[in-house]
Amino acid sequence: VILVTAAGGKTGRAVLHALRDRGEPVRAFARSDAVHELRGPAVETVAGDMLDEEALLGAFADIRAVVHIGPMFHPQEEAMGRAVVDAAVKAGVKRFVQFSVAHPQIDFLLNHQTKLRVEDYLVCSALDYTILQPMHYMQNLDPDQIVRDKVFQLPYSLDAALSFVDLADVAEVAARTLLEDGHIHATYALCGTDRLTGREIAKLIAERAGLAIEGQEVSIPAFIEQVAGGGTLHPVTIDGFYRLFTYYGLHGISGNSNVLRWLLGREPTTFAEYLQASMQLDGP
Ligand SMILES: NC(=O)c1ccc[n+]([C@@H]2O[C@H](COP(=O)([O-])OP(=O)(O)OC[C@H]3O[C@@H](n4cnc5c(N)ncnc54)[C@H](OP(=O)(O)O)[C@@H]3O)[C@@H](O)[C@H]2O)c1
Repeated sequence: VILVTAAGGKTGRAVLHALRDRGEPVRAFARSDAVHELRGPAVETVAGDMLDEEALLGAFADIRAVVHIGPMFHPQEEAMGRAVVDAAVKAGVKRFVQFSVAHPQIDFLLNHQTKLRVEDYLVCSALDYTILQPMHYMQNLDPDQIVRDKVFQLPYSLDAALSFVDLADVAEVAARTLLEDGHIHATYALCGTDRLTGREIAKLIAERAGLAIEGQEVSIPAFIEQVAGGGTLHPVTIDGFYRLFTYYGLHGISGNSNVLRWLLGREPTTFAEYLQASMQLDGP
């Protein structure tokens, strides 16, 4: 059985599906009982806190490998990463796939700092690790919602160019690096071929939907308020968002697709292919 942490998030679900589709029994681990909704053929579920050593070690029973995903912008993401590495060592589970991020050395970004520290801790362990560094996911956008709103909002400049990767490609690589030989002690940057500005994305979606989509830059506080959905976010999480959107607005973010192409043995999914596959509200 393969343990997947933060299994209820979009990354965790994609990885669970990729492993299950290859016939691998998986155990989904997340904090709340909502994790049990993921239960199904070949998918076991365990609810518990990654910072609760007993709960975490319990989740490692009869596990042969772990895919560790840290919850995004969580103030204790680094402590969770260390705890999962320690638990794997204690449980004697050698094979460890770590979800990091593209360019973890970007020191300005809190979520990159955290990932780099967890990478450091993992590389110093005696575990058989593979580190995956995905770029910004295409799945961060909801094209159908953008079509319904007829507006594409971004909390940074519409002229900033960003690279993207399809989360399904990333999940496929996660499963393959785990199930195939030859990926131990590797660190892989995973990036697709597109580098697009907000204006270009709005145009691509508009063309496919056959209607006009307005690109709109919104303030970072307004965007954070939307994400919080009436609740409150931890100050570290708010700081993380401010830094991310400030950085994207100033520099964008770019990556190279060679490693992903090699790992997939095919061309990475393009943004246009992602839109074609994901948009329900297709065409006028
Ligand atoms: N989005 C991107 O473009 C992108 C690109 C590269 C890398 N990444 C990285 O991918 C990772 C995952 O992001 P995501 O958006 O897919 O997932 P996410 O929404 O951040 O993950 C949420 C999951 O983590 C669980 N969780 C939270 N706190 C926990 C705790 N204390 N103990 C156990 N489980 C806990 C949640 O459980 P409950 O729901 O039960 O609370 C939920 O299942 C992040 O580290 C992010 O930086 C993302």
